[in-house]
Amino acid sequence: MTRKTYYITTPIYYPSAKLHIGNTYTTVAADALARFKRLTGYDVMLLTGTDEHGQKIQRLAEAKGVSPKEYVDEIVAGIKKLWKMMNINYDKFIRTTEDYHVKAVQKIFKRLYDQGDIYKGNYEGWYCTPCESFWTETQLVDGKCPDCGRAVEKASEEAYFFKMSKYAPRLIDYIESHPDFIQPESRKNEMINNFLKPGLQDLCVSRTSFDWGVPVTFDKKHVIYVWIDALANYITALGYGSENQELYKKYWPADVHLVGKDILRFHTIYWPIMLMALGEPIPKKVFGHGWLLVNGGKMSKSKGNVVDPVVLVNNFGTDAVRYYLLREIPFGSDGLFNNEIFIKKINSDLANDLGNLLSRTCTMIEKYFDGVIPAPSGREDVDNNLIDIALDTPKKVEKNMDNLRIPEALDSIWELINAANKYIDKTTPWILGKDADKKDRLGTVLYNLSESLRIIAVCISPYLPETSEKMYKQLNADIVSWDSIASFDGTKAGTRINKGEILFPRIDLDKKLEELNKLKEQQKALKAVKIKPIKEEITMDDFEKLDLRLAKVLECEPIKGTNKLLKFQLELGEEKRQIISGIAKYYKPEELVGKYVVIVANLKPIKLKGEISQGMILSAASDDGSKLFTVSVSGELPTGSTIS
Ligand code: MSP
Repeated sequence: MTRKTYYITTPIYYPSAKLHIGNTYTTVAADALARFKRLTGYDVMLLTGTDEHGQKIQRLAEAKGVSPKEYVDEIVAGIKKLWKMMNINYDKFIRTTEDYHVKAVQKIFKRLYDQGDIYKGNYEGWYCTPCESFWTETQLVDGKCPDCGRAVEKASEEAYFFKMSKYAPRLIDYIESHPDFIQPESRKNEMINNFLKPGLQDLCVSRTSFDWGVPVTFDKKHVIYVWIDALANYITALGYGSENQELYKKYWPADVHLVGKDILRFHTIYWPIMLMALGEPIPKKVFGHGWLLVNGGKMSKSKGNVVDPVVLVNNFGTDAVRYYLLREIPFGSDGLFNNEIFIKKINSDLANDLGNLLSRTCTMIEKYFDGVIPAPSGREDVDNNLIDIALDTPKKVEKNMDNLRIPEALDSIWELINAANKYIDKTTPWILGKDADKKDRLGTVLYNLSESLRIIAVCISPYLPETSEKMYKQLNADIVSWDSIASFDGTKAGTRINKGEILFPRIDLDKKLEELNKLKEQQKALKAVKIKPIKEEITMDDFEKLDLRLAKVLECEPIKGTNKLLKFQLELGEEKRQIISGIAKYYKPEELVGKYVVIVANLKPIKLKGEISQGMILSAASDDGSKLFTVSVSGELPTGSTIS
């Protein structure tokens, strides 16, 4: 029997800067959904990637003095590393600079042109480079981009246009007859009322003012508008427009495109119209999630309020970050990220509720049954109550996930965790343990706890994959399929457990907050230091002309009539040298006597204040000139030794 497929995508990210926790959010949510679908038997395709063309990238590369390709290669490597760190198990990573994608986009463009949906005209209007969006005069808000509020640039050029207007009535019909297409519901109304009903303008789909993009094959001075290029990724990644259509046939139409609310317009208007024009099916669902806010509003680099996922993972671990994003941010609305709430959640939900449940259970199995899970014998009401909740949990999780209610799915798992903790309080195994006659009852209680923990571990695996693995290991559970948690008997009595490390050690809130604040200050200070630009490149031959030597300061005195210069007598092997150096502001002469320094020994001698200077003492200084230290070597060497 062929398995049902599930195709889920994240937006493809601009490799314009380091990704922040807001961008990470979409991908973590997509990964959790994909893992859940795999767990429940689907053949899943999770696609993510990078959107590498456009004026913004070209400008960033120019500013850095590298080619756009060099620029994106470096950032994309970092993005892939971040996904690994966040435990994102994607099936495919697409880069829009890849050859197969470029060729497919060119074919799509040519086809739309040949069939008359794209025509040549003149563009007069405003362009927002950070958003890669075109706007008319009337759409601007106070002369600025209505999406991001930044400055726009006048664009006036020959361009190709897509006849969006032709398809608008069909799209409105489609949206209205497919209530599931745009989710959540409120966003659907926004799209219809704000964009479709007022009338769709034809979309400018090519540019001539820069060249970092997919060239139009039949008019080489044009590159294809980056959103046409980017949206097509969802089908080119499956081989659309290439020889091999197998994956396309298998997975298209997508089950869900997960996107942030700011780019919903592109996905629910331009994208379905492109597909209609191509005669291809429309994706089943576009889900627009909210933004992750920090105290000052939306997280953005320009506001300087971004939260770095790498810092969070290094401090709290991947699963803690995944947990916060998935449970605490209402899926579909905006949510807050805040270190204090985050740490409190780790302590209460992960360390206390989940971590303690596992460690208490394993400790008792070790103490009362030498580390071997006992067999159950008989059920009392209190047991049935727990078992009912445990058997209900997978059903609730599945129902919530089918409706993309990720936080609610986690809520239902925590109901079971809390019920199991209460079960310990009610059954008081530590009292049963004191009475030899109650050994069977104690065995039943500990079996029920082990089996509940196995069910919990399977249920949390899409959200907290690492924690789930740790739990399987400690419980020594080898039956961990979704089907196995439909009944309450998957734990094998007689299994020897491996009590291991604490899942989530408790965090000292105040101490950690202070640490994080300090780190932030340090990072700010580092950013504030303006590093001087690197000087012009030199060859190895140039460098080899320098003769650097180790020397020892024999004498050092100030030079009269100046408060800058010091006169040094140096030992350089057999030779003695005099060097004048302008470092009086940083050292008292006596502090330098006996010190080893590195000098440029073959510098042409000069006279300073009437004194001969035969070389230069090397030192490192801060760019603002407030600090300076002479350079030396870290081991003992005779003076005169060469440095290369
Ligand atoms: N390249 C386009 C997407 C093309 S898809 C065919 C793009 N890239 S992006 O890197 O700017 O943004 C990627 C995603 O991150 C978007 O879905 C955006 O909504 C999301 N987020 C950016 N900041 C965010 C928050 N503060 N919170 C949540 N999501 C955020 O747009």
